[in-house]
Amino acid sequence: MLVLRKAFLGFFLLTLFTSIEKRAPVTEALSSVVALGANIICNRIPGLAPKQRAICRSRPDAIVASGEGAKMGLNECQYQFRSMRWNCTNLQEEESMFGFKHIVGNKEASYSYAINSAGVAFAVTQACSLGKLSKCGCDKTKKEGIYTSSGWKWGGCSADIKHGLKFARKFVDAREIEQNGRTLMNWHNNRAGRKALIDNMKTDCKCHGVSGTCTMKTCWNTLPPFRKIGDYLLSKYSRSKHVKAANLDKRRLPTLLIMKRNALRKPKRSDLVFLDKSPNYCDYDPTTGSLGTVGRKCNRTSTRTDGCDLMCCGRGYNTHQYTRTWQCNCKFHWCCYVECNKCSERTEEYTCK
Ligand SMILES: *[C@@H]1O[C@H](CO)[C@@H](O)[C@H](O)[C@H]1NC(C)=O
Ligand SMILES: *[C@@H]1O[C@H](CO)[C@@H](O)[C@H](O)[C@H]1NC(C)=O
Repeated sequence: MLVLRKAFLGFFLLTLFTSIEKRAPVTEALSSVVALGANIICNRIPGLAPKQRAICRSRPDAIVASGEGAKMGLNECQYQFRSMRWNCTNLQEEESMFGFKHIVGNKEASYSYAINSAGVAFAVTQACSLGKLSKCGCDKTKKEGIYTSSGWKWGGCSADIKHGLKFARKFVDAREIEQNGRTLMNWHNNRAGRKALIDNMKTDCKCHGVSGTCTMKTCWNTLPPFRKIGDYLLSKYSRSKHVKAANLDKRRLPTLLIMKRNALRKPKRSDLVFLDKSPNYCDYDPTTGSLGTVGRKCNRTSTRTDGCDLMCCGRGYNTHQYTRTWQCNCKFHWCCYVECNKCSERTEEYTCK
């Protein structure tokens, strides 16, 4: 019964999200949230912490955007890690609608949390700019003004990044209900994700004036492509910092993170941080959250992480032969049809033993 309810809810939210992506009238989807009652929906979303449920009830429209943001984060993570042993797949898939579950506080968890919170901040900011949310819109501090002496002014709709960041901080950080080192780690990485978004914001301009001279410009702040955030955080991941939790007062709970190797130093706000070492992800081990690489596709000739040697951890690989067919040599005939040949090729695919 519980499973059935969850499945139904999942379906409901999925329809909600797809209706937002595919069809423009978002208000339609949102009004259905309102019609169904924020209470009912918010009580049934699996895996929300109590504080998150309260936020959900007061801002159901922003929760819809957050769900999209979390999905963007997950897709980006799976793209970035597609050719590595850990490919951003976790054991508790089901609860991952609004975030990730990581048993161990390792580097991979740090990336997941950062991209998730960046995704939520991104999607909420974007929804604000598109006029989808009731409590935000364009950045009011960058309203259309007058040209400066250098012929420059704000105009159009600047992304209200501050609103998106604030919402993401409140909503995503509220997932942590304990107070321990892991909480500090998750908060740090959530903030690093939001910071990645701020640091990659850009300004677009439109030129006015006599053709092409660009003597006058109207500019607005805009979100970067989300891929840029994914790339940026991947470079942070590869230089992520090993930290430990410390308490200034021994009787109290941990209050800050310090570098594992140098207790006098704190990690930077933009650093991704981890408490625990990662497993090698070669074998299935639920205690470390490792799915193993059995059955993963690999590249026989590559010497990188997607190569069969590294991907399969020396266990060897299976070869599958198949025939690939596709349309080729297409010719356009006047007018109006296209004629193609069918090409085929024997190819091989390799999967880890
Ligand atoms: C990720 O890896 C797991 C097993 O390690 C596999 O089942 C899954 O299909 C992979 N996902 C992608 C997107 O490659
Ligand atoms: C396998 O790796 C080689 C060398 O890195 C690359 O040239 C080739 O395109 C890869 N093949 C596939 C199917 O990805």
